Amino acid sequence: MEKIIDGKAFAERLRADVGTKVAALKARDGVVPGLAVVLVGEDPASQVYVRNKGKQTVEVGMQSFEHKLPDTTSQEDLMQLIDQLNGDDSVHGILVQLPLPKQIDEKSVINRINPDKDVDGFHLDNVGRLSIGEEGIVPCTPLGCLMMIKDQLGDLSGKHAVIVGRSNIVGKPVAALLLQENCTVVITHSRTVNLEEECRRADILVAAVGRAEMVKGDWVKPGATVIDVGINRIETDEGKTRLVGDVDFASVEPVAGKITPVPGGVGPMTIACLLHNTLQQACRINNVAVPE
Ligand code: GUN
Repeated sequence: MEKIIDGKAFAERLRADVGTKVAALKARDGVVPGLAVVLVGEDPASQVYVRNKGKQTVEVGMQSFEHKLPDTTSQEDLMQLIDQLNGDDSVHGILVQLPLPKQIDEKSVINRINPDKDVDGFHLDNVGRLSIGEEGIVPCTPLGCLMMIKDQLGDLSGKHAVIVGRSNIVGKPVAALLLQENCTVVITHSRTVNLEEECRRADILVAAVGRAEMVKGDWVKPGATVIDVGINRIETDEGKTRLVGDVDFASVEPVAGKITPVPGGVGPMTIACLLHNTLQQACRINNVAVPE
C-alpha cells in the first residue's frame, strides 16, 4: 500500500457507493433522500463549501435544498426555517453551515434541529449517544478520519491514539470513535505538558488544532499513522498563499508509516460522509434498511 493516503480517491469511492445505494433505495422503496443546507451570511469559505455540498448531493441522486439567508437574519427567523425543515417529509438531513453571525446563538439553533435529521451529529442527543457508544449520527470529519484509519490498519484494538486538539467538532468526537474501537486514547491541547513526548507515543496521531505545520518529524514514532485535519492558509516567500495542514508534511512524511496530505486527505472525506449520513437517516426515518 502507498504511504500517502489518497483521501480524494477514497471519497470518490464512498460517493459512488452512496450513489448506488440511493438508486437502489429509490427503486425499492420510492424514497429519494433530501439534504437541506442553510447558509446565513456571505462568508466566502462557507459559500464554497455550500456550493460543493449542493453539487455533490445532486451527483449522488439526492435532492438538494439550499436556503441562503442574509447576515442580518434574526434568531427567530432561523428557528422558524429549522421548524419548517423539521416538518418537511422530503428533507432527511439538515445542515446549518457554521459559523453563524454574531446575533445568532449557535447552540440553540443546532439543538432545534430534529436529532434524526441532524446529519452533522452536533445535536446534544447525538453527542450524548456517541459518548456512550450508542448508535446515532457521527460528525462528518471525524467519521471520515475513522474510515481512513480503519481502511489502513484494520483492527484498532490496543493501538495508542493521540489526538492533538480538543474541539467539539473534531478532537472530542474523534477520541470517542477511537475509544469505541478499543484504542488507548490521549487528548492533548494547549495546556498539555510535554506535548511532543505524548505525540511520540502514538501509533495513530490525529492533528486537529488549526496551527499550520505544528507537528514535526521528530514528534512522530517511526511507522505511525498520521491523520492531518488542519486546513491553514500560509503566505509563501513569493507572496502567494498556500494550503497546509497542522502537520509539517516535509519532515513527518519520511518518518510516518501512513500519512494524509493537505489538500487531498481528510478534506474530501467530509462531504462524502455527509452524503453517507443523509442516506442513513433517509432510511432510518422511513423505517427501511439501507440497501446492500
Ligand atoms: N463549517 C465548517 N465545517 C463545518 C461542518 O462540518 N458542519 C457545519 N455545519 N459547518 C461547518
